[in-house]
Amino acid sequence: AARAFSTSMVADKEVKNVTVFGAGLMGAGIAQVLAHKGKFNVTLSDVTDKALSNGQSIISKSLTRIAKKAMADSSAEEQATFVQGIVDSIKVTTDPEAAVQDTDLVIEAIIENVGIKKDLFGFLDGKAPKDAIFASNTSSLSITDVADAVERKDRFGGFHAFNPVPQMKLVEVIRTTKTSDETYEALMDVAKRMGKVPVTCVDAPGFIVNRLLVPYMFEAIRLVERGEASIKDVDTAMKLGAGYPMGPFELADLVGLDTLSHIAKGWRDTRVKTGEIHAEAVKESKLLEDLVAQGKLGKKSGEKGGFYEYP
Ligand code: CAA
Repeated sequence: AARAFSTSMVADKEVKNVTVFGAGLMGAGIAQVLAHKGKFNVTLSDVTDKALSNGQSIISKSLTRIAKKAMADSSAEEQATFVQGIVDSIKVTTDPEAAVQDTDLVIEAIIENVGIKKDLFGFLDGKAPKDAIFASNTSSLSITDVADAVERKDRFGGFHAFNPVPQMKLVEVIRTTKTSDETYEALMDVAKRMGKVPVTCVDAPGFIVNRLLVPYMFEAIRLVERGEASIKDVDTAMKLGAGYPMGPFELADLVGLDTLSHIAKGWRDTRVKTGEIHAEAVKESKLLEDLVAQGKLGKKSGEKGGFYEYP
């Protein structure tokens, strides 16, 4: 009877406390939307104070942009108070154990490295409440592989948000073969409470969006490498001819050329070998690798830029 009781408690339990690991662009964005739109109690954790204050600055900048529009009739002071109120509501800590002390849900958005993610989840598995749900925001790794580090495989799933998180409406919720219905429903519910539209995908490489976008960006790069059209014209073509908000090169610069190269290399090393992804789809590109080697990583590289410059 005790078991049945605890199972139903778990099923009915509403997620209130969410811990986000990783205060980079994705983690900060997720923490921001959880706190602002979802009204969750949010804790943001990273390994250094510097990373945490950088995350707070990402959140503050984004909320300032939102406040300028949403609170156009309010004074600058009122807008600043709103921004600071949300930033201050997000607890920050470099102590991973303290971060998950009474968490209901962990969302991990740290470096895209399966070993490092597994180390973190393996550690947290022994520290977080037994009924807490774990989710990874990985965009290209296997959720099943990451979940291998924990006992709670039924309480593990993917929760993949998109860049820029405050603006992009989608979350991909990923089920492994072991993810329970309760866990899946809880992740869908959290996405909705964040004001996002969740879609579901099995644990397939790249899920839906990256499975299509990554080969698309590579195809665009190859088209330019062959000298068939200019970067600018490819972007203009896809914006005006296919209605995309950004062309593939603008998008690659937003995603980060190092990230794009890293995803493709990871797939070549794994998913191409297993036959899950066609070799041609993510074949190494000299143009891309040259830019990465020069430190031209896209929008984040500012003046150096990527395919474009961002003075
Ligand atoms: N925080 C808050 N608001 C933001 C924001 C942010 N970080 N970024 C943009 N906005 C807001 C702007 O303030 C603006 O608001 P209003 O409409 O109220 O004026 C709105 O978004 C539009 O922004 P802009 O006018 O600056 O520019 P835009 O109209 O071109 O929109 C964009 C920008 C939303 C990024 C749009 O170009 C777009 O949707 N691009 C495609 C992005 C995309 O495909 N992302 C997925 C990348 S792949 C990925 O993330 C997966 C992965 O794992 C690699």
